[in-house]
Amino acid sequence: MLLQILRSSCGSTGILPGSTRNSLSPRVLVRTWSSSSSLLQQRMQRLVLGIETSCDETGAAVIDEDGKILGEGLYSQKRIHVKNGGIIPPLAQDLHRQHINSVVHQALDSAGVKLKDLSAVATTIMPGLALCLQVGLQYTKDLLRHTSVPFIPVHHMKAHALTVRMIKQVDFPFLVLLVSGGHCLLAIAKGVDEFLLLGRTLDNAPGEAFDKVARRLKLQHHPKCQGMSGGQAIEYMAQGGNIRLLMDKDRPLLKVRDCNFSFSGLRSVAQWIIYNHEVKQGVSCDDGNHLKTISDIAALFQHKVAHHLVTRVVRAMEFAKREELIPDNLKSLVVSGGVASNSYIRDAINVACTQNGYQLHCPPPSLCTDNGIMIAWAGMEKLKLGVDIIQDPQNVRYEPKYPIGLDISKQVRAADIKIKRVKFW
Ligand code: KG4
Ligand code: ZN
Repeated sequence: MLLQILRSSCGSTGILPGSTRNSLSPRVLVRTWSSSSSLLQQRMQRLVLGIETSCDETGAAVIDEDGKILGEGLYSQKRIHVKNGGIIPPLAQDLHRQHINSVVHQALDSAGVKLKDLSAVATTIMPGLALCLQVGLQYTKDLLRHTSVPFIPVHHMKAHALTVRMIKQVDFPFLVLLVSGGHCLLAIAKGVDEFLLLGRTLDNAPGEAFDKVARRLKLQHHPKCQGMSGGQAIEYMAQGGNIRLLMDKDRPLLKVRDCNFSFSGLRSVAQWIIYNHEVKQGVSCDDGNHLKTISDIAALFQHKVAHHLVTRVVRAMEFAKREELIPDNLKSLVVSGGVASNSYIRDAINVACTQNGYQLHCPPPSLCTDNGIMIAWAGMEKLKLGVDIIQDPQNVRYEPKYPIGLDISKQVRAADIKIKRVKFW
């Protein structure tokens, strides 16, 4: 909804290319309607083009200093990878190569700007699939080869964490939980480029676990789940499910008092429950049958994922309090990534926030998943600070693995924090 408002507001934004600009960092005359006075205001704005190719979305967007989205192009490979049962990196690379030029030009054309009007081009160079990162970086190098437009390298996870700041004021330091098909981490964002890693997944990402359980239940063939991702399908089927019917005491890393995550055990438990129900009901999901208890299983799995996330979030809040990492007047938790669009999980985390005096901030679902807008915004944050602005990107290298910041997960574990139970259902 919020993004719809943002996107529709782009319609009232007229760019006048060729207006006065400073040669080092061009500013484009942007017309915006002031909501308070309804008067047409004219301001000089710097613009950043963001390019994302780290995984399975080819994204590009042009944004201004206020975070207004002036133009966007997005090509998602997800459906193709779902059919193949997972991402095949050479195929993903090929698809990025096929679409990157049209995606970037769609962003520029819909914004009505030319390359020379940009103050910088920001591109994801870390972390991600090597073959995919390479496409975005090489394209950017070629694009900027004979121009004076500078380059800003972007860390994909930091960009996820910063996205919310283009919509509302969330001051540093804040707590951030990133949960998607490829990542799961808890960190403290101390600044645009300064993060402390509190914990991360030791095996699967939660979205990956959702996808695998959904596939085991054959939800991709369920008439009510057509076109949905695994997580969306589980969330949909979980409505009306009864978790109490199947509840057991299994909880991952229950006795390990840190902020790391593990989802592979939950996945195995779910698969074992599914097998048991197949035997009891005399059917097999592999033969195209759907279990009668599908909703209960989906609800239980979703609940267990939510519970695991909540325990780690509460421990992170407690750790931040003990170590005085987040002042009392700035207690904010940002949750982003594809899994953050799950309402049950959001509600559960919100209960934990309320109990601990935190404000929960989630970008709208379309900004939680990978896109060029988040990269453009991360670039704009750096541009405003004047950091990491590279005049010639030709020697820049991509980094498939690169930590989000200083890893303090061992200190979290050493603190041995026992947390109070959070009841959210
Ligand atoms: O951020 P994202 O688009 O990108 C990748 O990590 O690739 O996240 C996609 C993941 C998928 O695993 C999908 O199943 C999960 O997010 N997801 C959800 C929901 N919507 C998407 N998981 C749980 N509940 C949802 N509603
Ligand atoms: Zn991502």
